[in-house]
Amino acid sequence: MEQYDKEFLDYMKTKYKLTLDEATNGTEQQIIKFAVAWNVWKQAKNTFYKRERDSVAVFMSTDHSRLDYILQEFRKSKKAGETKQLFLEFKNGIERHMKWEEDILFPIVKQKLGDDSAMIDELLLQHNRIRDDLKGISAGLKTRDAALESDLEQLLAGHDKMEEEGIYPWIDDYVEDKAKREALSRMV
Ligand SMILES: [Fe+2]
Ligand SMILES: [Fe+2]
Repeated sequence: MEQYDKEFLDYMKTKYKLTLDEATNGTEQQIIKFAVAWNVWKQAKNTFYKRERDSVAVFMSTDHSRLDYILQEFRKSKKAGETKQLFLEFKNGIERHMKWEEDILFPIVKQKLGDDSAMIDELLLQHNRIRDDLKGISAGLKTRDAALESDLEQLLAGHDKMEEEGIYPWIDDYVEDKAKREALSRMV
């Protein structure tokens, strides 16, 4: 028997209105939902939440890897219920990640660099393309659109590289520790 932690059970209750008891005695769909969410949660805990929050590069790059892992699991998955749940987890995760960037990190860079922050505009355009791909994949989830999935995968590879080599280390190097910690603490 898995040892589910309380935060996970609370998350399932708030996010999916699903308790352990309901899932255990529930439909196949509910059991799958619970199992997939737990798998993603365990992975997130090991690689993400336990880390000290003092480096934007470490924190955000780890979230990239976490999202990559979910995307790969989604691409490999062949069972309808599991596929849907993995896609949902990926979509929720990447939307949260992009919101952190758009609302918290990018404004810091823009404020400091002004007109020299053209890279941010490029990254924002890529976020729009990521959102378009997500919409397309979501609409065709039943039949699966391998071309769109691989477009998203390639788009993300270049995008993440740009952020990991350009933006995140820049913030670590040029933003004062206090402001950086404050920004990191807002990413929940
Ligand atoms: Fe991004
Ligand atoms: Fe990112």
